[in-house]
Amino acid sequence: MTRTESHDRKQALDEFIKAMPKVELHLHIEGTLEPESAFRFAQRNGVSLDFENVEALRRAYDFENLQSFLDLYNATMSVLCTEEDFFDLTWDYLARVAEQNVVHTEIFFDPQGHTRRGIPFATVVAGISRALEAGRQHFGISSRLILCFWRHLSEEDAFATWAQAQPHLDHITAVGLDSSEVGHPPEKFQRVYAAARAAGLKAVAHAGEEGGPDYIRGTLDTLQVDRIDHGIRCFEDSALVHRLIDEQTPLTLCPLSNLRLGVSKNLVSYNLARMLALGLNVCINSDDPAYFGGYITENLLAVRVAQDLVAAQVLTLGRNAIDASFLGAEDKAALHRRLEAVAVEHGFGPSG
Ligand code: ADE
Ligand code: ZN
Repeated sequence: MTRTESHDRKQALDEFIKAMPKVELHLHIEGTLEPESAFRFAQRNGVSLDFENVEALRRAYDFENLQSFLDLYNATMSVLCTEEDFFDLTWDYLARVAEQNVVHTEIFFDPQGHTRRGIPFATVVAGISRALEAGRQHFGISSRLILCFWRHLSEEDAFATWAQAQPHLDHITAVGLDSSEVGHPPEKFQRVYAAARAAGLKAVAHAGEEGGPDYIRGTLDTLQVDRIDHGIRCFEDSALVHRLIDEQTPLTLCPLSNLRLGVSKNLVSYNLARMLALGLNVCINSDDPAYFGGYITENLLAVRVAQDLVAAQVLTLGRNAIDASFLGAEDKAALHRRLEAVAVEHGFGPSG
């Protein structure tokens, strides 16, 4: 292939990345709070932010590590007060990713970040679920909602949140675990996860983002999750890598997040191509896109460039996300057909 042909091929692949129907599985709805919206909500609720204006807040999005991000993330979500705020936040996210051809999304929310400020659990779920239903009707985006427990809080706190969730379980598909990882191992949440699974919920958890391989192993063994969120530090333990391959545990990777939080030095040394070559079940997501400089398409484009991915690898990422979702078999099959059709349209079909 000449240099020009190779350049054209990369451009065509980027066009395909933009057009492909996408499934997002790792997205904190509070992490979609753009600075402009934060000020809009603050003003209408009479809440003050520690920043003079939008630019000053955006300048603060320069993080040293996970904790420095969480400190700002937890403080900024205090502008979210009413059902309308949660509706608008979720609607704005859906409108944005509809333009990126997201067709299915499974979103986290952090109820403890709101109930601790006196916002009822019901208010949060009502606003988010109403927007998800409106997004289904208006944009054709299907969705699931995942209740995340904050791992820096106690087991008792998690159980109190689980009790508050009971009248709303028809809106909630799974439980998750997020916030500061190191020092807050998964074992602390074994019993609340058992209760959630016994109630028929699915389970996911952040692991191996800030914490090492032990956190991933502990999560698999004690929480019996359907997916691991991040899992990027699995490479520090080759036996664990083999287990993840054997069990085909989905890992929901978030490259721009890992870059911005210093989990990865850069995206060239990011292990994505290696993970794909080994047969790990990985997919690409945006985590907290308002804070990390990109939604799902920007994440895919960034790894395409840094890892010099080819179409077959991009397609694998798309297929993995569909299969790792909590959709039923028929919906998954329909999404696979849509993905393959767009690939053919872009010259990346079976013979492309
Ligand atoms: N909450 C929001 N984003 C998070 C992340 N990347 N890790 C842990 N907790 C989070
Ligand atoms: Zn996350």
